[in-house]
Amino acid sequence: MRFGLICLCLQPTAKILQTHTPELFQKAVRRAVALLRAGEVIALPTETVYGLAANALNEKAVAKIFEIKGRPASNPIIVHVAGVAMAKGCVARWPELADKLARSFWPGPLTMVLPRAEKIPGNVTAGGETVGIRWPSHPFIQAVIRECGFPLAAPSANLSNQISPTNAEHVRAQLAGKISLIVDGGQSQVGIESTVLDLTISPPGILRPGMIHAASLAAVCGEVRSSEFGVRSSESTLRSPGLLKRHYSPKARLVVLNWRNAADLRLQLSTFNFQPSKVHLIAHTQIPSGEDFAGVSVIPHDAEAFARALYAEWHRCDAAGAELIIVEKPPETPEWSGIADRLRRAAS
Ligand code: TXA
Ligand code: MG
Repeated sequence: MRFGLICLCLQPTAKILQTHTPELFQKAVRRAVALLRAGEVIALPTETVYGLAANALNEKAVAKIFEIKGRPASNPIIVHVAGVAMAKGCVARWPELADKLARSFWPGPLTMVLPRAEKIPGNVTAGGETVGIRWPSHPFIQAVIRECGFPLAAPSANLSNQISPTNAEHVRAQLAGKISLIVDGGQSQVGIESTVLDLTISPPGILRPGMIHAASLAAVCGEVRSSEFGVRSSESTLRSPGLLKRHYSPKARLVVLNWRNAADLRLQLSTFNFQPSKVHLIAHTQIPSGEDFAGVSVIPHDAEAFARALYAEWHRCDAAGAELIIVEKPPETPEWSGIADRLRRAAS
């Protein structure tokens, strides 16, 4: 009993700091910067998903990220910068194309994979010769990076193989006992992880689709290689384990379906052996009445709004003990490709 109490006391319980007034924002920046300078790991908002951040130039601090998440050492971490000058300092070569992409899409949800600079520790790149760099647009993480003066290594702030968090509560539910600070910067505006583009191959290859889609990139790059589940990088090993098929998934089984009307949906569902009380439905055009299901969520038929809401719905279904999540199939147009990718992985 006494032992149990001692163990409990040693566990950090994350403090959640708010940022919705200028005073709170500044106070949270000061606290975040102090902890990051001390080599600690903290959770911060970004516009895509919340990140679990440490000083990207401090190998020991980065090692804590792997430990907290239970992340395999073979999975490299994205380095977050505040500006192109800082990005250039993290890479060995900064091609003209990186400049063009930065002008078009930074700050924002695009990660560029480039040859790494010597100063980037080996655990950030998982021993590889490339580094993923992103300049996020969320004002809080920008302010923190500027004040720190060093870049931040940050994967999504979830335990390995769980859904990325899109608000501070999602982070708290998974990591409160493992870190000392979570900064609440509101709901993530983009809602799914950044597009990861490998610039070390020609033409550049999309390693992970996101809300900046192939057609937008091609308008700047000329040509980009995209593939259903990403492409291999120039190195022989797969350097983007985040591309492993089943990765971004809720605990429940997930299926993507098309249905004409409620009767058609009921017919299709009869082939799945689940109690209706364990089935949650996420729809955007054909909305059945709720009585057959544990829950029916409607998310807008608009790719940006859909992406913003998707993970929060999955978190909610997991918390409600859903066993089956049915998602209405989205359109197959380019602006839905990042969403289609996450649905495909979750359903695999
Ligand atoms: O939007 C995002 O990208 C969020 C926020 C926090 O910035 N971060 C994020 O990190 O999603 P993470 O670690 O959950 O996913 C990063 C993905 C992984 O699939 C990883 O394998 C890949 O990017 N990656 C990172 N560095 C890479 C590199 N040098 N080469 C190839 N893939 C890389
Ligand atoms: Mg992740």
